[in-house]
Amino acid sequence: MKRLEGVSIALGVGGGIAAYKAVELLRRLVDEGAHVTPVLTKNALNFVGLTTFRALGSSEPVVSLFEDSSPIPHTKLGQGVDLVVVAPATADILSKFATGACDDALSTILVSTDAKVVLAAAMHKEMWSHPAVMENIETIRRRGFTVVDPEHGRLAGGDVGFGRLAATEVILDAVVGQMATRDLAGYHVVVTVGGTREAIDPVRYIGNRSSGRQGLAIVSELLDRGAHVTAISTIDPALSSSYLEVVRVESAIEMESATRSACKDANALIMCAAVADYRVESPLVNKFKRGSGNLPEIKLVENPDILANVVADSKMYSQNFITIGFAAETENVEANGRAKIVKKGCDILVVNDVSREETRFGSADNEVIILSADGSLKYIPLAPKREVAAGVVDALVERLLSIEFEQ
Ligand code: PMT
Repeated sequence: MKRLEGVSIALGVGGGIAAYKAVELLRRLVDEGAHVTPVLTKNALNFVGLTTFRALGSSEPVVSLFEDSSPIPHTKLGQGVDLVVVAPATADILSKFATGACDDALSTILVSTDAKVVLAAAMHKEMWSHPAVMENIETIRRRGFTVVDPEHGRLAGGDVGFGRLAATEVILDAVVGQMATRDLAGYHVVVTVGGTREAIDPVRYIGNRSSGRQGLAIVSELLDRGAHVTAISTIDPALSSSYLEVVRVESAIEMESATRSACKDANALIMCAAVADYRVESPLVNKFKRGSGNLPEIKLVENPDILANVVADSKMYSQNFITIGFAAETENVEANGRAKIVKKGCDILVVNDVSREETRFGSADNEVIILSADGSLKYIPLAPKREVAAGVVDALVERLLSIEFEQ
């Protein structure tokens, strides 16, 4: 089995004697199914030839920010890849990445990507033990990126010590390890995010306290696990990925239309938004003026139940579409959740108690019960919303797998 099937990688090559080993890494990455774009620094070209990388890579190698027909090759490549691996990562490259400096194609791509980053360090032993290099590595690791340590062995000039590029297999394993949880590659998931706003007049609305944090945590988790995501959102997600499409909406009516349309070619819907149950029947065209004699009267009408409507649609289209709802409860949490999953007809319902200080709307953490339509239940104790998102996505994957198994 190819371990990197469908994964898009930028392979950075720094200017060090170990640059020749990047050729073997390139070949192994391609053999594992990855689409690899080599990115070489000018100094790397003193050690290796471009022709080799052109012959073995999946795309034309990048060496400069200015030789491509695109005016922004660095952001284009940075946004399009799942992972950037640099081998060898010289002291200079590590220093630039730690400080955010960008003066060539590789350093600019590293700073303009939100993909995973693996840096396989290689340099002379004195450089490797220098406090500046050590501090840069500490900074890089603290930010969540992976540094593969060099090995002990023969170095350029006949010296022996720590600094030799790790074996290709070790670097490859680090890359595969970063991609290991891409269990949703090839799936399209629609997520609703934030709270809807129902217009009263051009400046006022009826809204709720949803911050969108839980929905965005789900979007990030899905992207990290390889899914294509459509976020139907009332807030700016401030996330960018070539796997993410954002549709901005305000009201429940707009959210319903965007959600139903996005679900047509999706595998699942996660309805995390806090949708207003009522809207103003006839919002005013002009701003309501104070002192006009009468107090304004606002007549409310019921909004559509988006989740229930998508469930009804999906039953008509296919049995394989998964629907996940959230339930914001303030009392009898589990019992109300059990009644709601039946009422909405969804496959999974994530129930949270929004009356508690630590799990209310806008909080950093959440604590949920994940109910399935078959009555089974999983409890996720108080944890950051990203961890709760991982639990919700695990439940989705389990359900997708069980459907595939049944067929
Ligand atoms: O955004 P945060 O500040 O991080 O807060 C997260 C959250 C508390 C908003 C989130 O975890 C959550 O509970 N979202 C669902 C809120 C909600 O509308 O719950 P509900 O019990 O009223 O609705 C049940 C389900 O039906 C939800 O999936 C909801 O999206 C959906 N619904 C509700 C009304 C409606 N007209 N159409 C719907 O589709």
